[in-house]
Amino acid sequence: MKRSIKACAIALFLAAAPAVVMAQTVTGTLHLDQPGPVIAPEVYGQFMEQLGTGIDGGVWVGPGSEIPNTRGFRNDVVGALKALKTPVVRWPGGCYADIYHWRNGIGPREQRPITLNRWWGNKEENNAFGTHEFFEFAELIGAKTYLSINAGSGTPAEAADWIEYVTSPSNSHLAQERRANGREQPWKIDYLGIGNEPWGCGGRMRANWYADVFRQYVGFITPGAGTTVVAGGPNADDYDWTRTLMSVAGKDFDALSLHYYTLPTGDWTTKGAARGFGEDQWLSAFVQTYRMETMLRAHDAIMDETDPGSKKVLAVDEWGAWYDPTPGSPPGWLQQQNTLRDALLAAVNLNIFHRHADRVKLANIAQMVNVLQAMILTDGDEMVLTPTYYAFQMYQPFQGATVLPLEIEAPAYGPLKAVDGTAARGADGKVRLALVNLDPDRANTVSIVLGGAGARAVSGQVLTAQAMDSQNDFDAAPDVTPQAFHDARVSGGRVTATLPAKSLVVLTLD
Ligand code: AHR
Repeated sequence: MKRSIKACAIALFLAAAPAVVMAQTVTGTLHLDQPGPVIAPEVYGQFMEQLGTGIDGGVWVGPGSEIPNTRGFRNDVVGALKALKTPVVRWPGGCYADIYHWRNGIGPREQRPITLNRWWGNKEENNAFGTHEFFEFAELIGAKTYLSINAGSGTPAEAADWIEYVTSPSNSHLAQERRANGREQPWKIDYLGIGNEPWGCGGRMRANWYADVFRQYVGFITPGAGTTVVAGGPNADDYDWTRTLMSVAGKDFDALSLHYYTLPTGDWTTKGAARGFGEDQWLSAFVQTYRMETMLRAHDAIMDETDPGSKKVLAVDEWGAWYDPTPGSPPGWLQQQNTLRDALLAAVNLNIFHRHADRVKLANIAQMVNVLQAMILTDGDEMVLTPTYYAFQMYQPFQGATVLPLEIEAPAYGPLKAVDGTAARGADGKVRLALVNLDPDRANTVSIVLGGAGARAVSGQVLTAQAMDSQNDFDAAPDVTPQAFHDARVSGGRVTATLPAKSLVVLTLD
């Protein structure tokens, strides 16, 4: 088997690791007097695709279900997502968006057609969760709406009709049809995606072709004031795509999407296991995650060429860890376990987004429930909150906070720095520091100089567990939940904290 230079470097690093491990020291400076950009709350967005049990069973059980529900939406899941202050939800795809025909999902549910989900195991979709259900669900959890329209196998006319149906306050026949189906007032589409992955499942288009398709679509749709129009952006590091879209269609969009998934092996045929992995795949998963930072920097620089003021948003509307599916799970349902590694991967990604907060103002982790790096797993009437859910929970105060520059000098962990961190001042005036210790064996003692102001007190929470792949199970007390953190002090203009091995720590400075 061929091994990449990176994989060999990781193997050499692991072979040289000492048997006895001691806490190491990390130094840094936090510039409390140099406020940066605001972290858009929508960077904490979610994505739900009509796929496997991501919606059916995971969110939607129908009003007649024995599982406690509100008008068909699971109460436990709704409660957990509300508690997370989910800012925005994207639907119906993903790849599914470009085979979705909205008329299949309106009107009396028992009359809706059964359609085949060609991208995801040819599952028979009963279309019970359609337009009304999506907007009602978003209202229920208090989230903004992100609708991805079909620009792959649909037409501009079909898209224009859908948008009119949803948003028109008029007496047009489409607005009246919405009223006849039970909704008097129009809804707001906060974000409107014109197709999904047009370079792949969304139509296998080349950049110039898609740029023209995009222009054609926006020429016929009227999404309404305050809607952010998102163009289908690059696949990972396809920088030519970004350059072409910016020059051919840049005038017509508000945001350009970016999709990048973390695969521990970097190989789509054998991605790596969600559980039962060794330190080699712990480390390689983080190495792959940091590619996000390289990509954001490079796409941002290209966007700067024609948009130096960062008016156009880079919307990372699909990101997260993608592993080999859970053995025995139905093909195409993208089911995978979620462990401590996922929580730390999420934290590193969120830190990266904070560092690019001037450009990245929307991001949607894939996916919200039961699919890929999920917040929530369900099984019948049971629900479990994953380690990733708890990472999002700990980061909640960063929604809408103002970035503060944080420089960290950390020892190496393989090709990476052992500790990653970001800081921001929240709306409550308090400063939060999010610190991730990637090293699975060594604690790291962080000592950060507080520049420009002081702090009187520090408190915090920590997320860690026994094993790299500790998870939360259905019928047991969860192994990975945030705990109060008592290993931090402030004195002499410094904050000092000892981060346990493989941990996420979020500190609050008063
Ligand atoms: O999230 C799963 C799939 O990944 C989405 O449908 C698609 O957009 C991407 O390739």
